[in-house]
Amino acid sequence: MIAREDLAALLKWYVDSGLDETIGDVPVDRFASRTSMVSAPDQPAGAERAAPRPIERPPVTPVRAPVPIESPQLVEDARQLARACASLAELETAIRGFEGCALKRTAKNTVFADGVAGAPVMVVGEAPGADEDRMGKPFVGVSGQLMDRMFEAIGMSRERDVYITNILFWRPPGNRTPTLAEQAMCLAFTRRHVELAKPKVVVLAGGTSAKAMLDTTEGIMRLRGKWTTLRLDDGSEVPTLPTFHPAYLLRTPASKRQSWYDLLALDKKLRELGAR
Ligand code: URA
Repeated sequence: MIAREDLAALLKWYVDSGLDETIGDVPVDRFASRTSMVSAPDQPAGAERAAPRPIERPPVTPVRAPVPIESPQLVEDARQLARACASLAELETAIRGFEGCALKRTAKNTVFADGVAGAPVMVVGEAPGADEDRMGKPFVGVSGQLMDRMFEAIGMSRERDVYITNILFWRPPGNRTPTLAEQAMCLAFTRRHVELAKPKVVVLAGGTSAKAMLDTTEGIMRLRGKWTTLRLDDGSEVPTLPTFHPAYLLRTPASKRQSWYDLLALDKKLRELGAR
């Protein structure tokens, strides 16, 4: 019997590799089905053949994929557009006008940012959910309300001290995990977003955001609570704190304790930087 953790690790590896859709109940070995379509030289077409031997593959260490091959030009277009923006207003206009990301076609709204542009803290979440899609603002649903209460616990608010965005500007249908291609396109804009907003610190909410922004395969369980440096293309560096996503905290309230430590670490860092 395969251990539950091994299955979870395999599933995580699939998602990290960009396989985030199930298209059938039973796995299909495409290599085997391709050979079965070709007749062996000594066999007439359609004759019964022995079942192919299962293919043994060596264990694979997950690595972050380079820019997905199906859309390198769109990613490059996004990068050039983002680089040409000299202000947050220009960036917002560029994102709203960008037609390269297929998610835009199914989304109701482009979700750019909320809170105070230029605030000392910039939160980067994952992607808009249904509420955010409807209202056109990030983190306005239940997880956003929890996030607001968390900041209030250290005397901060989105009206005064926090600027909020996501790595994606459009809601993925059914809230599925964004593909690497979708992430790469939006990431070009999000990185420029941080350069232009110039926060004192960045908070990465959740594993998808942390992995994408820090370009790592490391999971949030390892990353959370550890300060790291976000290196941007204009040469600037921003102290960055990965933390649990509030949606995860709603499902796993026991983890709020660790998030409380993260909030205290954030408060301490802001004081050290003279931002409070
Ligand atoms: N989750 C996110 O990551 N971002 C939002 O804006 C809402 C929910």
